[in-house]
Amino acid sequence: MNYGFIGFGNLAKAVYQGLKDEPNINFGYFSRHKKEVEIPFFESAKSLAEFADVLWLAIKPQDLAGILEQLQPLDLSGKVIVSPVAGKSIAFIEKYLGTDPIIVRIMPNLAIAYKKSVTAFATNHPGLEQTEHIYEILGKLGKAVKLDENGFDLFTSVFGSGPAFILSFIQIFKNKMREFDLPGSLLDELLLELTQGTTIYFAQNQKDFSIEELIKNITSKGGTTQAGLDYYRNHEIGKLFEGVLEAAKNRSIEMSKD
Ligand SMILES: NC(=O)c1ccc[n+]([C@@H]2O[C@H](COP(=O)([O-])OP(=O)(O)OC[C@H]3O[C@@H](n4cnc5c(N)ncnc54)[C@H](OP(=O)(O)O)[C@@H]3O)[C@@H](O)[C@H]2O)c1
Repeated sequence: MNYGFIGFGNLAKAVYQGLKDEPNINFGYFSRHKKEVEIPFFESAKSLAEFADVLWLAIKPQDLAGILEQLQPLDLSGKVIVSPVAGKSIAFIEKYLGTDPIIVRIMPNLAIAYKKSVTAFATNHPGLEQTEHIYEILGKLGKAVKLDENGFDLFTSVFGSGPAFILSFIQIFKNKMREFDLPGSLLDELLLELTQGTTIYFAQNQKDFSIEELIKNITSKGGTTQAGLDYYRNHEIGKLFEGVLEAAKNRSIEMSKD
């Protein structure tokens, strides 16, 4: 099976890193500039498309139309086109390529490199062997979920942009900890331990307890956590944070109109 990346930036590199040890997959890429990487470079979208059974459209939304124009005259029968492009629907791609080509729209995040992405999946040809192959591969790269395309904007906000939002939250902790006068790298290590410890606590108990219960278990009445959580609730910080998710979702909706 040959996988070809059109564009070899952050996302394509992450997908490649997650998949490079899979047996029976060969890789190649085409991008504006040749890169110092271990997989072969193809000189054009056409030559990459000839090589690839699966073509990953790993380019920015504003570059998608130009690439689709290059793919338009090519014979894509039997190939799968995988698009992680935020805000661009299967119908948008079909406008250029028609409805015959097999198109899979996905929304992964960068943790795909560590096989820890949460990835949404939708296709115009459900049930085909080729589309199920992609779904299985995504399952090896974390958790994959089949989702109606209407849900992609919210999913993009929560799971595509989510790592950046969670890191922004951790950054608040880090800024506060600067009062300790410890080196930044040590602060990062401590915060990593905190987040890993929290994640393990969540993972170990998630089947038996709700998130609310897990919070309650570390909150003693009248204690420090209680004081912090009271502030959090009284100032409706959760609601404020929902605004972040809403803004990202709305941007995804806007981008689908470009
Ligand atoms: N990054 C994420 O966390 C993430 C998560 C989910 C979805 N996505 C989606 O994945 C897509 C790619 O994102 P990214 O972060 O990987 O972007 P990126 O790092 O900017 O990479 C884009 C790549 O596209 C190439 N490119 C642009 N125009 C081209 C053209 N006309 N012909 C050939 N190659 C072209 C660039 O080539 P050069 O390097 O040669 O300039 C670059 O390698 C986006 O649509 C985004 O919505 C990203």
